[in-house]
Amino acid sequence: MKKISKICCIGAGYVGGPTMSVIALKCPEIQVTVVDLNEKRIAQWNDDNLDNLPIYEPGLKEIVAETRGKNLFFSSDVDKGIDEAEMIFISVNTPTKTYGKGKGQAADLKNIELCARNIAKVAKEDKIVVEKSTLPVRTAETLKSILDNTGKGVKFEILSNPEFLAEGTAIDDLLNADRVLIGGDETPSGQAAKDSLSWVYEHWLPKERILQTNVWSSELSKLVANAFLAQRVSSINSISALCEKTDANVAEVARAIGFDSRIGSKFLNSSVGFGGSCFQKDILNLVYIAKSFGLQEVAEYWEQVIIMNDYQKRRFAENIVSTLYNTVSGKKIVFYGWAFKKDTNDTRESAAIYVADALLEEKAQIVVYDPKVSEETIYADLDYLGTRDPKENRELLQVTKAPIEATKDAHAIAILTEWDEFKTYDWKKIYANMLKPAFVFDGRRLLDKDAMASIGFKFYKIGES
Ligand code: NAD
Ligand code: UGA
Repeated sequence: MKKISKICCIGAGYVGGPTMSVIALKCPEIQVTVVDLNEKRIAQWNDDNLDNLPIYEPGLKEIVAETRGKNLFFSSDVDKGIDEAEMIFISVNTPTKTYGKGKGQAADLKNIELCARNIAKVAKEDKIVVEKSTLPVRTAETLKSILDNTGKGVKFEILSNPEFLAEGTAIDDLLNADRVLIGGDETPSGQAAKDSLSWVYEHWLPKERILQTNVWSSELSKLVANAFLAQRVSSINSISALCEKTDANVAEVARAIGFDSRIGSKFLNSSVGFGGSCFQKDILNLVYIAKSFGLQEVAEYWEQVIIMNDYQKRRFAENIVSTLYNTVSGKKIVFYGWAFKKDTNDTRESAAIYVADALLEEKAQIVVYDPKVSEETIYADLDYLGTRDPKENRELLQVTKAPIEATKDAHAIAILTEWDEFKTYDWKKIYANMLKPAFVFDGRRLLDKDAMASIGFKFYKIGES
């Protein structure tokens, strides 16, 4: 087993940045270089002001402060990074395809192939190539085919090492990972490569938590883990609709079933719907793979998780419209939160985008406040949907940095992200600001129903009648 001294990670995003920062912190003898084609992103990672890092994650800037320039480097010289490293992580984005065969379902592997071709072009010595991105099962075959045909006699070992961190808790998830999964060939050189990667993680994690499998199990396990997690959210969200009709309380139901140790209590928080860059993408990918093997029932089973999630977002928006006397046209509705969950500035697939889009179709006047998301991102998210022209998006929706003042003359507030600060607001003052009746639609079950009702609000909390 070879001890690695130089690592390169291609992709300085939400996974590459935090993961490599933690490796650099825990493995001071390893030189870690994170490379990206996006020069602006690299400049942000190198910014002297650590508040300008491209990613907001609690605890990240402290680690970058400690390691950057010592054994952690960010660079846009991708070729140099590849050339120098003994182990190369590929951590580029693998979005859902928006064109051609598999459009709307399959993973777009364009970036992965580009990385493989780049490694094949640059490498002069044997290397371990690690799939960190989430990939369809059997992608390693494609990588192998490209890397094994360079004609330069360079040997590559391909490992699958999917990432399980969640945004907002990335640093803690990396430092205290439940498990690390390493898939590789069951040959002597494959085993040696798996052991080299395991050695990196053993710097801070107990060996029992480092699981080794074959490549295909590892690739598939990542998609399955996300599918199971998303399925729990859709399951409890389906029950939230039933609770609202029956006077049952979704939190009480979740608690009651979660006490059964076979079910467990985690990931049963009913919400306006899951978002994030991966749940939907990875389930669609699973659905596509199942279909491509002729497993129609398997595909339909998992597709239902997405259908339920779309229903939940639509149901939330429709409830706002029907409660506000069947019209929101010209009515000011304040959105608290735009990120797909708290403690991140990531908005990819955030439920807020789809709820806003539905309300804008009804000509609502929306004002958005999010503590970490920029105005530029909010408009980009809406424009990307292409539902209406960008000018109209800007006429109908404003972005504010003043959450309390924004409620002046508002008809309603919708809570889309569970930021802790919303709990500490002076809700009496907000009530005084608003038109009456003053409505609050809590899509995150953040606020206390009785307390809000006693102030005078008409309060709707998802999963309660
Ligand atoms: P991201 O979009 O934040 O970052 C990807 C980066 O890769 C971008 O900065 C992009 O410029 C760069 N890139 C793309 N092609 C490149 C190339 N050919 N050469 C150099 N750089 C290139 O994506 P992310 O959220 O970090 O996700 C990366 C992968 O990890 C995805 O497959 C995702 O499914 C998976 N994943 C993400 C999370 C998460 O929480 N975001 C968690 C686990 C797994
Ligand atoms: C998720 C997984 O939790 C990670 O293990 C995985 O690595 C990652 O996807 C990935 O592959 O990208 P992430 O999307 O960052 O992580 O965040 P989660 O905490 O899983 O939340 C996803 C969405 O589900 C959020 O919108 C969140 O608000 C929602 N959610 C989560 C609920 O509505 N209820 C819950 O009980 C839990």
